[in-house]
Amino acid sequence: MRLDKFISSQRSDLSRSMVKELCRKGLIYVNGKIIRKSDAQVTETDDVAVNGEKITYKQYVYIMMNKPQGVVCSTKDGESTTVLELVPPELFREGLFPAGRLDKDTEGFVLLTDDGALAHRMLSPKTHVPKTYFVRLRDEWSEDYKKAFSEGMIIDGGEKCLPAVFSGSPDNPFECTVVLSEGKYHQVKRMFERLGNKVVFLKRTAIGNLPLNPDLPLGACLEIMHKDVERLLASKSF
Ligand code: URA
Repeated sequence: MRLDKFISSQRSDLSRSMVKELCRKGLIYVNGKIIRKSDAQVTETDDVAVNGEKITYKQYVYIMMNKPQGVVCSTKDGESTTVLELVPPELFREGLFPAGRLDKDTEGFVLLTDDGALAHRMLSPKTHVPKTYFVRLRDEWSEDYKKAFSEGMIIDGGEKCLPAVFSGSPDNPFECTVVLSEGKYHQVKRMFERLGNKVVFLKRTAIGNLPLNPDLPLGACLEIMHKDVERLLASKSF
């Protein structure tokens, strides 16, 4: 691959013309040697450094985002801020998109990637990666909810849900955790509506066995490793 393409594919803050300029200034090294031609050929195994900073080649990027309320999980939206707009330039790549959606008023873990094949596996209805949600309800939860969730609820319109896990908080009668192994439209909200209750706050706290980092502020992103995403995909359903 050309050196300018290699660098700009890994660093969204460096355009190909910026790389050309940096080359001219003698600020780009390949395998310890200054390279002044931005069309020089490099491979993934070459040791490339810009301004003394090593570039570790990554084919794809995987990002854990703590989505705030009011932000939409689409790639374009005329009115609202999108999750893509919250990705910092050092992690941003062409082709990045959210692998799974949360509602505009839901907070929490959104996985973003430019790895289309992995996202496809993640979104496949056959995969059943469990997703964990923290829920605050309008009315107190009841002990019957456990059974209703575990039996596979039928929600409005006659849609049958897969068995899910409900756990009421031992400390708060309005708070609970729900684990689902599918992602129907507004599913958590519709399941509680079916029980005559209402979700007033919803946050996704884990995807598979990967919890949302509790130190990640709302709106912030954290790069995660490919192997963590593979592990998450292999998470057993309940
Ligand atoms: N269920 C919902 O109702 N909303 C979400 O955003 C996610 C799950």
